[in-house]
Amino acid sequence: MSDHIHARRNRAEKAWQTEHVVLIGSGSPIPVPGGMDQIHHFEPHPDHYWLTGHRTAGAVLAYDAHEGWRDFTPDLTEDDRVWEGLTERAGEPISGLAPWLAARKDRPKAVLGVPGGPLKGITTDRTADEVFAERLLHARRAKDSIEIELMRRACNATARGFARAREFAAAGVTERAIEIEMQAECFRHGGEKMGYHNIVGSGTNAAVLHFSPSARGVQENEFVLIDAGCQVEGYTADVTRTFVVGKPSTQQTELHGIVKETLLFGNSQCVPGKEWRELHLECAVRMTQGLVSLGILRGEPQGLVERDAHALFFPHGLGHLVGLGVRDASGYLPGRARSDRFGLAFLRMDLPLESGYITTVEPGLYFIEPLLRDPKRRERFAGDVNWDEVDRWIGVGGVRLEDNILVTDAGPVNLTESISLDI
Ligand code: GLY
Ligand code: MN
Ligand code: MN
Repeated sequence: MSDHIHARRNRAEKAWQTEHVVLIGSGSPIPVPGGMDQIHHFEPHPDHYWLTGHRTAGAVLAYDAHEGWRDFTPDLTEDDRVWEGLTERAGEPISGLAPWLAARKDRPKAVLGVPGGPLKGITTDRTADEVFAERLLHARRAKDSIEIELMRRACNATARGFARAREFAAAGVTERAIEIEMQAECFRHGGEKMGYHNIVGSGTNAAVLHFSPSARGVQENEFVLIDAGCQVEGYTADVTRTFVVGKPSTQQTELHGIVKETLLFGNSQCVPGKEWRELHLECAVRMTQGLVSLGILRGEPQGLVERDAHALFFPHGLGHLVGLGVRDASGYLPGRARSDRFGLAFLRMDLPLESGYITTVEPGLYFIEPLLRDPKRRERFAGDVNWDEVDRWIGVGGVRLEDNILVTDAGPVNLTESISLDI
């Protein structure tokens, strides 16, 4: 076993401090319905992968404080050898799991990762499962050197894709064609797959937060928003850039400038101890100040944010932890609850940053018709929003800028700094 897997297992043991037998399922392959003889791309549960370093379906990692760890994986079948060309599998045969469990039949157990499959029928106390899962999640928030290196590779491949997309984007080129060029370039530079569905939106499509690239051709002087990240050995970047094809208008330049200034401020604040909720609100106040200066919002920025007026234009959180998946180990510290406020309900995490965390910072300002044309909202925010001015902006679309920041004791390290922030 490699040193880093050994160190991760020590971190998990320390976090659990338990007499429970802990079982972590990697998950099972999901067949494509209809007898296609195909399975969906398999991604192991991140807890299992992080503690084993292999990406095997139907596997179980087992822990007993008195004995240590056992890594059970399915036996290699003739089909595996014939159809997939496999010659060996990590771990030990899963046929050993049943007797191993039988020898511990009176011990309390916790099931983490993906339940079912080889773990079907094991009785646990759901509260204990959740407590151990939460502790493991927290234990793996800080990235080790192997993870940081994989993130650097994912970010570098992503940077190549974004550079190519910017070079290729032109009036008449479709969102889909931009996606294809970007993705191919990512793959040429080490990206193994994309970490999530690519987002490419032009014009008003830039205001659709998770827009799927379409056959729409970009028009001269429009925004193009691209949100994409390559994955390398399970680790993904999550990057957004917004730029104009052709010559930016004054409105576009002003909007982009506010978001860019907020991104750079947000990046600079990613230091150990910084409370994420606080940083989200600080960035909301800065962007609100910008919207006041544009005549879109009226009043004092702090008060506007307290009344959630900013969320009409910034309806998502400032970011989330990223790495082993696009929402890696984000969440709320135990004891912290999700707010039901319009301006805070969507925060994906509420925790203090620590050295080794990798977080996205992703401020955005958008003119989203379903939010801004809603009569109830127009009434609720009648005193805070200059709705006539909003109507003059609604076709502009939106801007999001997103970097991936490694938090260190020596200050923030921007893993995506090489990707141009130019409009
Ligand atoms: N790509 C989705 C997000 O930025 O969180
Ligand atoms: Mn993103
Ligand atoms: Mn993101």
